[in-house]
Amino acid sequence: MPTLTAKRDYSIVRSLVRERAAIVLEPGKDYLIESRLDSVVRELGLSSIDDLLSRLRGTRYSVLHEKVVEVMTTNETSFFRDRIPFEIFANVLLPDVLARRDRDRVLSLWCGACSSGQEPYTIAILLRERFPELRHWRIRFFATDISPSMIARCRQGCYSEMEVRRGMPETLLTKYFRRCGTQWEVVDELKMMVTFQTMNLIGTWLSFPRLDFVFLRNVLIYFDLETKKMILRKVRSQLAPDGYLILGGTETIGNLDDGFERLDYRGISCYRVRT
Ligand SMILES: C[S@@+](CC[C@H](N)C(=O)[O-])C[C@H]1O[C@@H](n2cnc3c(N)ncnc32)[C@H](O)[C@@H]1O
Repeated sequence: MPTLTAKRDYSIVRSLVRERAAIVLEPGKDYLIESRLDSVVRELGLSSIDDLLSRLRGTRYSVLHEKVVEVMTTNETSFFRDRIPFEIFANVLLPDVLARRDRDRVLSLWCGACSSGQEPYTIAILLRERFPELRHWRIRFFATDISPSMIARCRQGCYSEMEVRRGMPETLLTKYFRRCGTQWEVVDELKMMVTFQTMNLIGTWLSFPRLDFVFLRNVLIYFDLETKKMILRKVRSQLAPDGYLILGGTETIGNLDDGFERLDYRGISCYRVRT
């Protein structure tokens, strides 16, 4: 007779991740929870996942809890991810904003949920490559993520061969990166353009200036409806009246917030505050 193994109870992980990061782990995601907890077990030399779960249940919020929240986030990203949104940014949206800011010559951008930095560095490269006149502008460029280890990686700016091969064109690789052992390191000029900071989208936000561009890509998908609405409301209050919000390819505002107007460029949506 086959023996039935009892399903593990991951409710402590689910509530922890929901409470601290607003991420909803659906019931079908047990395999994902298990494999990620397994990495914590191995890293910390614990005896088993059950051992880890009982430590989580038995103590107040600690570095262990923080670690578990961190491993439960999905950090998938790449340079020029989905390509077309960056073309639209460089060919249409940015020229439009720059024309309106020509007198003050100040440009403000925020890349929320920036993971290991490929997205803000893609944007920084586009600014340098396509808009050399911006050297004479004041650029305020923030990139944030909930994960301290992702922000540490962003600041280091070091990427493996495989990571740069995922999207970075050869000519830009040799121009904006230098070899660093087996890795590629972003040049200081780009690093200095971006202020990297940890920030939880459901916590206290940095005090941003009025933002011309908000990139909030591939993160709202992890949240429930109320959290999405709350975040979009806050974005709207930070965005300049003629600024743009850019979401991920599978994300839309739909009827989450009727204060935004949707614009469509070659099938790519971006958003402006409705006037
Ligand atoms: C899939 S990555 C998206 C990276 C990048 N924006 C892109 O589109 O390639 C999602 C990122 O959201 C971050 N994240 C998840 N929950 C968050 C929260 N509550 N506040 C801030 N960042 C969060 C994760 O740490 C992760 O790096």
